[in-house]
Amino acid sequence: MKKLFVDVDCGVDDAQAIMMALAVPGVQILGISCVHGNTSVENVCKNVLRILKVCKHLEIPVFRGANKPLLGQVVGTGDFHGKDGLGDAPDPEAPGLDLVQKEGAVSAMIRIVNENPGEVSLVATAPLTNVALAVKLDPSLPQKLKGLYIMGGNTDSRGNTTMCGEFNFAADPEAAYIVLNEFTCPVYIAAWEFTCHSKLPWEFCDGWLAQDTDKARFMKQIFQHSMKNSYSERIEKELVAGQGFISCDSYAIAAAIDDTIILESLERAVTVELAGNCCRGMMVVDHLDLLQKTHKAHILKKVDLERFKELLMNALK
Ligand code: BDR
Ligand code: CA
Repeated sequence: MKKLFVDVDCGVDDAQAIMMALAVPGVQILGISCVHGNTSVENVCKNVLRILKVCKHLEIPVFRGANKPLLGQVVGTGDFHGKDGLGDAPDPEAPGLDLVQKEGAVSAMIRIVNENPGEVSLVATAPLTNVALAVKLDPSLPQKLKGLYIMGGNTDSRGNTTMCGEFNFAADPEAAYIVLNEFTCPVYIAAWEFTCHSKLPWEFCDGWLAQDTDKARFMKQIFQHSMKNSYSERIEKELVAGQGFISCDSYAIAAAIDDTIILESLERAVTVELAGNCCRGMMVVDHLDLLQKTHKAHILKKVDLERFKELLMNALK
């Protein structure tokens, strides 16, 4: 049994990632913690509950986490995922927030990892505020994790939120710094450019959404909004030639679920720029080993896209 604890800012691609994990036999999600990011933390909690309802997994505990970064103001993704984070698709039967656990996200993350030492993979697909707070409260947390899987950061100087910062890191640079510098367990990073270069054809996406299931109909509804904005238009034309569908957060969760999916990765020390006029929130990859850090992260370079497609397909079956 693979045990996951997932930290999200749900987000259409967070939804895709959660649904992917829920569909894999032998994977157990022990808890989902919510944090500010694509929308308010309250909306994130609501969105996670909606997903769990569609997937018939409302037994999985949902925890409310930080509503702001460690320093400064909430960054937010504007209208990219819709105001509610899930494409503003109406859902009159959405479960109520009374289903959110009384225990807070950070305390639950620490408790659940400590109850399952060496067994939990922590997957973080959001600003790293909850994860950073958890390691500050329990510095032994990294030693007790099987691995930490992050969607975030960028490996060159081009950001997707600030000039040089990818959203999850730029939305809480201090938290990203703490996490990259204090988690000495195996750390896997699906950075922004990697997800862009691992895009899937839109024809795949059409077939994916055309499945005759409630999950596919739900995904189609919530995905309409960001599909229009999308990764397809501005970013694709400028950054990666050709059209394609990118589900950023799903790469991090796929790596946690399936040990065979990473075909190539780069082992490097990483940190985050906290100062500077233009680069705050940018991930810095120490190619020259100047930081002399013994701990290196695995920066994803290539994944088995056929297996990734299969995992995505199964998510909506
Ligand atoms: C990240 O930012 C969010 O909008 C997505 O959910 C993803 O986690 C991509 O930069
Ligand atoms: Ca996310």
